[in-house]
Amino acid sequence: MTSSTQPSGDLARLNALRMEIERHQRLYHGLDSPEISDAQYDALVRELEALESQLSGTGSSVAGDSPLQRVGYSAAREFQQVEHALPMLSLNNVFGQEELSQFGERLATLLGMASAEGLAFACEPKVDGLAVSIRYEHGLLVQAATRGDGSIGEDVTENVRTIRNLPRRIQDASVASFDQGTSKPAVSARVPRVLEVRGEVFMAKTDFNNLNAMQQKAGGKVFANPRNAAAGSLRQLDSAITAARPLRFVVYGLGVVSESDLMPKSHSEAMAWLGAMGLPVASQRAQEVGLDGVWEFVSEIQAGREALDFEIDGVVIKLESFALQEKAGFVSRAPRFAVAYKFPAEEVSTRLLAIDVQVGRTGALTPVARLDPVRVAGVMVSNATLHNADELHRKDIRVGDMVWVRRAGDVIPEVLGAIHALRPPGAKPFEWPLRCPACQGPIERVEGEAAHRCVSGLSCPAQQRQAIEHFVHRRAMDIEGLGEKRISQLLEAGLVSRISDLYSLRFVDIAGLEREGDKSAQNLIDEINRSRKTSLSRFIYALGIRHVGERTARDLALHFQSLERLRQADQASLMQAPDVGPVVAESVVNFFAEPLQSQEVDRLAGQIEFPQVDDRPAVAPAQAGPLSGRTVVLTGTLSTMTRDAASDWVMRLGGKVVGSVSAKTGFLIAGADAGSKLAKAESLGVAVMSEQDFLKLVEEAQGGD
Ligand code: IVH
Repeated sequence: MTSSTQPSGDLARLNALRMEIERHQRLYHGLDSPEISDAQYDALVRELEALESQLSGTGSSVAGDSPLQRVGYSAAREFQQVEHALPMLSLNNVFGQEELSQFGERLATLLGMASAEGLAFACEPKVDGLAVSIRYEHGLLVQAATRGDGSIGEDVTENVRTIRNLPRRIQDASVASFDQGTSKPAVSARVPRVLEVRGEVFMAKTDFNNLNAMQQKAGGKVFANPRNAAAGSLRQLDSAITAARPLRFVVYGLGVVSESDLMPKSHSEAMAWLGAMGLPVASQRAQEVGLDGVWEFVSEIQAGREALDFEIDGVVIKLESFALQEKAGFVSRAPRFAVAYKFPAEEVSTRLLAIDVQVGRTGALTPVARLDPVRVAGVMVSNATLHNADELHRKDIRVGDMVWVRRAGDVIPEVLGAIHALRPPGAKPFEWPLRCPACQGPIERVEGEAAHRCVSGLSCPAQQRQAIEHFVHRRAMDIEGLGEKRISQLLEAGLVSRISDLYSLRFVDIAGLEREGDKSAQNLIDEINRSRKTSLSRFIYALGIRHVGERTARDLALHFQSLERLRQADQASLMQAPDVGPVVAESVVNFFAEPLQSQEVDRLAGQIEFPQVDDRPAVAPAQAGPLSGRTVVLTGTLSTMTRDAASDWVMRLGGKVVGSVSAKTGFLIAGADAGSKLAKAESLGVAVMSEQDFLKLVEEAQGGD
């Protein structure tokens, strides 16, 4: 992250950050109404942490009240205050496997051990709700308090009593397990005279959606997310309102236990004990020895995150042994024996270094942010889309700003907005170009469309180039080995200036290029030749007609059955094809009517044959396929398809591909030379499928398509 090198600039930034963080703390904790996501908040905190430690080293004065010194937020005056008998602490966060290992190694050193390999850890999901401490005396729920600032919380006893999965009275473990029909009690223990349990009040995703729908209908407050809904529902002065809200509780720890002889020896033992008393404990829990197992649990939970009916933002990892926990101790506001593994932030802030305007395949101009490289969701990002001119101006994003960047799943990274409080002086609004940056041709804006477009079509080099990239793409003509770099080389050498030129390339042309070997040149020639036979649906998609994606291309191929018939179709007959409306129909007609494009299609049609109309099923994730609800791991080398293609198929069959094998893995698909994953699957009794078995499934699905 670049920041001013002058200490005074850094100090100003430090203060601006502190104010910004405090504002968000107020919005989040005080008003249950955040303006930014948790990931964005975490990113701000990380930046402030770095700046505070950097400045404290330079002797600059960073004294003063830092929002990082506080846990949570002061109790609101409307509620009675409760002083916690034992402070309610926070957890330090780690991001990524490396920081997790560092946590383990630090702990091991602290405990005088050579490594973390022999340490036992308890792992459980980090439920995204709000922390509450609940006190039982003689088995009766007598008090409940929010965390507040960690020492003093808000009295929410009446409200917590309305939570339906929380017993108001707890009983001896032996009785409770007997009640549940277990003949032998798992844990036999008396309920202590005073028992404090700590856990999270939260709202299930489905309950949250229903609540919001109801609120909207009734004109009430609509909540931003389940956490805010839970907090807003719990912090009601009228407990009748809370009672009407679908809150839940999950226990994750102990506070005061009056009789020390009743105290369990480890975290898992404590959870079993509390569970046996009838308290709700997390069902996804694991005990792992060493960090490899912990990492596996983390990966598994992360992979299954979406499917859970409650929101989690990470995994909490705690030393099992209470004796070792005590030995490890605490630092300021957090224990040393536990840590929150936060899932990779999908939103982070970084500096916007420049804005370039790119010309897309169909001439659309897109502003692209050049960023100070930053890790987002585990991947380094240095470019992100700013969508279009309107967005750019509406959000008032300027070069030099600190901006929020998001990357969710496989989606292209995008800039969400700027942090205006941190804007450097002199930053100017971006000036939109008046001509196409690639060909200097005119640009136009169609009424009702967000994008500006270069109207030069294939005579614009940017559009030409992207037409080629699209044409050869894996999902189009699937010409392997023609990446951006090689296309650039071919264009620069003048060997190719339009798509059809690919089919006149000779071995000597390619082998003569810089850094080109005979073998790879021949491979490319083979690939190009292989593409001379393809399906009509792939070819239609490969042409890159505006509004014609893979699915429409397939529909058109199946409907018209030949390229000639498609080319001759007028708008009305195009609209006879399934799902083709006036916009698509017009776009197809215009495409083939354009003389340059029409000539190009003629040339291509002379080179390519279509033995098949379509060669793949519709692209839609299966609701109920043979793999539905199963996680699948791919390993080894597959001989009939790429990993990508295999993953696509797993998805179409209803399954989900994950990276590592565990007891919960549904299937392992093992290609040639499968190694440790196969061994592990076998040792865990996970079903192993050969490539042949998998192909059978695929073929069956194709047959039924
Ligand atoms: S253990 C000493 N376990 O995360 C602190 N916390 O950032 C003990 N949380 O305040 C906390 N799920 O509100 C723990 N399984 C879990 C948790 C969990 C959610 C929350 C809790 C805590 C915060 C720490």
